[in-house]
Amino acid sequence: MSSSGRDNEHQLVGVVGAGVMGVGVAQSLSQNDHRVILVDVSDAVLDRARAELRNNLRTMVLFGGDRSIDIDATLDRVHFTTDYDALGAVDFLVENVTEEWETKREVYRRIDTICKPETVFAVNTSAISITRVGGVTNRPERVVGTHFMNPVPVKPMVEVIRGFHTTDETIDETTRFLAGMGKECTVVQDSPGFVSNRVLMLTINEAIFLVQDGVAEPKAVDRIFRTCFSHQMGPLETADMIGLDTILKSVEVLYESFNDDKYRPAPLLKKMVDAGLHGRKSGRGFYVYR
Ligand SMILES: NC(=O)c1ccc[n+]([C@@H]2O[C@H](COP(=O)([O-])OP(=O)(O)OC[C@H]3O[C@@H](n4cnc5c(N)ncnc54)[C@H](O)[C@@H]3O)[C@@H](O)[C@H]2O)c1
Repeated sequence: MSSSGRDNEHQLVGVVGAGVMGVGVAQSLSQNDHRVILVDVSDAVLDRARAELRNNLRTMVLFGGDRSIDIDATLDRVHFTTDYDALGAVDFLVENVTEEWETKREVYRRIDTICKPETVFAVNTSAISITRVGGVTNRPERVVGTHFMNPVPVKPMVEVIRGFHTTDETIDETTRFLAGMGKECTVVQDSPGFVSNRVLMLTINEAIFLVQDGVAEPKAVDRIFRTCFSHQMGPLETADMIGLDTILKSVEVLYESFNDDKYRPAPLLKKMVDAGLHGRKSGRGFYVYR
């Protein structure tokens, strides 16, 4: 990926959470010459993240044909650490921890005391209210939603969410920051699930009900969406890519937020998550990988 589209200087960026999304965000930033401090809870997770990042870059060079990527230099710009205090120096922070309110709340309480008052906190979440996140910090005007799409390095667009207190200045800064990662964005108002996931999560959950009810096999469901509607992926393939645990948590957030039965999670989704079938990242979901 080139650094074209960059219109701000290189920054020191904090990325909290080194799972599926955190690794993708760190990769996109580093490929656009930003330096990154990537924080997670254990060295084991960070070792896996480093290996995944190297693997992603190698795949882009070997199979994507992008010979401009310097794998070692890109990795060198990412500092992998469990030390939250390293975030004290960052200009901008993208948070990508597990989709659980309690987990996110504790992370924001912590980073609010460590980071500079002017640092923008960009919340990467599937469904959690940005206003709610802003409310646990002393800088709600500097808290903004950045709903990145998966896989981050290849998706051109980010859904940006304006919380109740988010200022125009923060939105402008975020737009420039994303341009510096080669991303365009669309700004929407704060509401659980925003635009994308209020529709997508409901669609995926309903597709899971169809499988559970024996109406169609996963392959048939996905084929209908691919062939009839020209979608690049069907809802169940998409669910496997996102992670079924993340899907379940997102649907639960929508259910709790709207108090509306239409968001009740499919029992089959719960069962699969309990069984450890989390999709691509665990090797099995609606399909088997590896
Ligand atoms: N997976 C997707 O397709 C997708 C797309 C858009 C947004 N999101 C959102 O992005 C966020 C991350 O999702 P993901 O798919 O990367 O999840 P994931 O389960 O792959 O990764 C979450 C990471 O957060 C880490 N973590 C947990 N508590 C932490 C803490 N206190 N401090 C630091 N790290 C901590 C975990 O160790 C893990 O590595 C979620 O809010 C999710 O809803 C996911």
